[in-house]
Amino acid sequence: MKEKRAVEIMENKKIAKNTYKMIILAPLVAREAKAGQFLNLFCKQRDLLLPRPISICELDMKLGIITLVYAVVGKGTAELVKMLSGEKIAIMGPLGNGFDIDDTIENHLIIGGGIGSPPLLELVKKLKGKKTVYLGFNAETILADEFKKYADKVHIAIENGTGDGSLSKSKVETKNRPLSRESRPLSRNSLPFSRYPQGNVMDLIKTNMTKADMIYACGPKPMLEAINEWAKEKEIEAQFSMEERMACGIGACLVCTCKIQKSEDSEWQNYRVCKDGPVFYRDEVIWE
Ligand SMILES: Cc1cc2nc3c(=O)[nH]c(=O)nc-3n(C[C@H](O)[C@H](O)[C@H](O)COP(=O)(O)OP(=O)(O)OC[C@H]3O[C@@H](n4cnc5c(N)ncnc54)[C@H](O)[C@@H]3O)c2cc1C
Ligand code: FES
Repeated sequence: MKEKRAVEIMENKKIAKNTYKMIILAPLVAREAKAGQFLNLFCKQRDLLLPRPISICELDMKLGIITLVYAVVGKGTAELVKMLSGEKIAIMGPLGNGFDIDDTIENHLIIGGGIGSPPLLELVKKLKGKKTVYLGFNAETILADEFKKYADKVHIAIENGTGDGSLSKSKVETKNRPLSRESRPLSRNSLPFSRYPQGNVMDLIKTNMTKADMIYACGPKPMLEAINEWAKEKEIEAQFSMEERMACGIGACLVCTCKIQKSEDSEWQNYRVCKDGPVFYRDEVIWE
């Protein structure tokens, strides 16, 4: 049984619009944790009883430090923003199962969408073999420099509100192909994201004809569905980190239960996203 424990916040700062990075000192949790797992964060306000599940973004087992990146979407995450370094926060974890890492795999394709990107950073650090990362954002990028540090190539697409999925003529930024001075943003007010191709990550992957032996993805469901279709067509195995509304986060309340039928003639089974996931293999996910 996982314990609730109070740990120290070392840093809690804004890194993008509505997006914050919290670093906590939690040696006992960090020692056990792996990429793809999550923590339950407890709010101080009494009316916010349920914990907020947030994925592990980075781990430093030696220093006992865990980094979390979260978007402010409601009351709970708005309360997290107000917490200062030096304060204590109650957490529980690590929870769920992380990504399976197989050191014999040669080509890894890692795909993140929006706030689904941070949970993939620790994974990229741990994978051996060639690591190609695709990140898609609506507007502002998150952790792009951190991904570039650990991946062989990082491609970024910006939807930019066009919603038409088109890829503009602008350059693909990769670790190996730095931006030209001309393609850098002029100022924060002058088309700051024009340096990235407009469109979604799936378009970019198809354009680049990226080779992969295993896919790892986290992000909005429509993005995951598109990846699933492509992975099936190309016969590439995939691991998806799924989100579901949660209450306990430890498999006790069944709030996050979903029914999964692994093949057309097999029995429907109940899966708890918190305890049996949140990472599932391609054929374990229901897409409707
Ligand atoms: C396994 C897992 C990992 C996650 N990792 C991250 C992460 O790394 N970064 C990040 O920004 N967000 C992450 N989320 C989503 C995050 O948990 C919600 O955005 C957050 O709980 C919203 O809380 P709130 O009080 O601000 O919003 P409200 O909408 O006010 O929340 C009301 C209730 O619904 C629950 N809830 C709301 N949205 C979600 C959601 N998407 N998933 C589960 N419960 C939800 C809340 O926990 C709360 O109990 C993750 C969700 C899951 C399930
Ligand atoms: S949140 Fe309670 S069983 Fe998953």
